[in-house]
Amino acid sequence: MENIFKKKLFKALQQAWSSWYPKHIEVALSFSHVRHCQVLADRLDLLNELPKNAVVAELGVEYGLFSKEILHRCSPKELFLVDTWPSSQMKESCMKNVVAHEKTFFKQTTSVNYLNEVEENTLDWVYIDTDHTYMTTKLELLAAAKAVKNDGFICGHDYTSISYSGLKRYGVVEAVNEFCVKQNYEFIYLTSETTRHISFALRKIKE
Ligand SMILES: C[S@@+](CC[C@H](N)C(=O)[O-])C[C@H]1O[C@@H](n2cnc3c(N)ncnc32)[C@H](O)[C@@H]1O
Repeated sequence: MENIFKKKLFKALQQAWSSWYPKHIEVALSFSHVRHCQVLADRLDLLNELPKNAVVAELGVEYGLFSKEILHRCSPKELFLVDTWPSSQMKESCMKNVVAHEKTFFKQTTSVNYLNEVEENTLDWVYIDTDHTYMTTKLELLAAAKAVKNDGFICGHDYTSISYSGLKRYGVVEAVNEFCVKQNYEFIYLTSETTRHISFALRKIKE
């Protein structure tokens, strides 16, 4: 009896889930998109692997906790910290957390606006960590492809479908895989956090 109730409840929840979160496009990767991919333990290891003394942008910064790690581990030549910062308290905490050196610039705007205003082929790498929806991520990736140098990296957080709490649906996997296939990019790094809040680094496939 209890099992039948559980099954019915599960089915009802599945139906509700599908109506709240409609499916995104599903584009399958092929071997050419993953053959050079290295698996790293976590996103701090990813920072250790990314170019140093580089021109970098973090898109979606919040309190600047990951920005601190970028500064510490990568010593960027220039670091652009981009966020809409919905509250001034958040922006102020971020500015306190990131003990900004003269090459750190705070940009209060959307990720896509920022990328579209940057001169083409000027960033060495970006790290995308904003709202994780399919549509925002798709637009960010396309804009990043222009702003980032040809041999640069487009990185980001939350290459996952569902948050660890199980309460939030992300569209990052669909947007990233579609981008790789349509724009000819490959995975160079994927991280492997237990929470599955995985980071990725993409690079244009060399012809
Ligand atoms: C998950 S937090 C970023 C966390 C940060 N990268 C870290 O690891 O500590 C997401 C941030 O993205 C910002 N955000 C959401 N949508 C955005 C957009 N379209 N453009 C810029 N920032 C955005 C939010 O204000 C929030 O501060």
